[in-house]
Amino acid sequence: MFGLFKKKKTPPTFAPLRTDMHCHLLPLVDDGSKSLEESLEVLQTMKEVGFEEVRLTPHYQYPRFPNREDDILERYKNFCDEVSRNRGDKELPQLKGVTGEYRIDDGFQEHVDRGQLLTYHFADPKRGSAKGLLLLELSLHQPVMGFDEIIFERQMEGYDIILAHPERYPYFSSHSEKLDQMKEQGVYFQANILSLDGFYGEEARKKAFEFIANGWIDFLGTDMHNVMYAQGLRHAAQNKKIIQLLEREEFENKNLVEQ
Ligand SMILES: [Fe+2]
Repeated sequence: MFGLFKKKKTPPTFAPLRTDMHCHLLPLVDDGSKSLEESLEVLQTMKEVGFEEVRLTPHYQYPRFPNREDDILERYKNFCDEVSRNRGDKELPQLKGVTGEYRIDDGFQEHVDRGQLLTYHFADPKRGSAKGLLLLELSLHQPVMGFDEIIFERQMEGYDIILAHPERYPYFSSHSEKLDQMKEQGVYFQANILSLDGFYGEEARKKAFEFIANGWIDFLGTDMHNVMYAQGLRHAAQNKKIIQLLEREEFENKNLVEQ
C-alpha cells in the first residue's frame, strides 16, 4: 500500500551520453554546490538519470570567482576523499577529474599566461590538439569585443575549444554567422540539457534544438549547480523530445578521458 505513495522512478534517459562534462559540484568554489551533502544529493540524481561519470568544471570568472588551478586541483582531491568517506550506500557516478569553465573576461589572460589551463582530452590519441579541450564561456549579456580572436589565438597555441552553452547567449541566433564561422574554425559546441527542457526560458530552449538541427552541437552538459538544477534534470529526463533526441543523435561526451 505504501507503494502507492512512492515517487515515480526517473528513467535513465542520459545513459547514452555516459559522461557529464560540465558541472559545478566542487563545493564552495563558485555559485554551484554549497556543501558536500548538496553535491552528494545532486550526484545521486545524476546517477539516477543515467550518468556513469562526471567531470567537474568550476567557474574561473573575474572578479567573481578568482579561482586558481593549483587550488582547485587540491580541493578536488579532498572532495574525492570526502565523497568516498561519506557516500554511505548511495549509488553515484564516478568522479573523473576536474577542469574548468573559463569565462573570456578581464581575468582570462592571466590564466593563459600562467600556463596551467585545465583541459579534457579525447580518449583516441589520434584526435584533438596537443593541449587538450578547453571549455570556454562568454558573457551572458553582451558579446565581449574580440572574443573570436581570443578563441583563435588559443587554437593557434594548441588547444581545442569547446564553447559552453551557445544557446544561452541572447546575441546569437540559429542563423548567426559568427557561430557558423566558429564551427568552420573547428570550435566544438556544448549545449545544456536543461536548455532543452526550457529551464532557462523558451528562447534558449528553441535555440538549443535549432543548433542541434544545424549540426552544431558536439557535447551535452548538465551545467549542474545545486539541488534545484537536479530537480530540473529529473524533469528533463521525462521530456519525450529529449528522450527521442538522445535515441537519434550521437554526442561526444563519452569520448573524453581525464588528463
Ligand atoms: Fe557552467
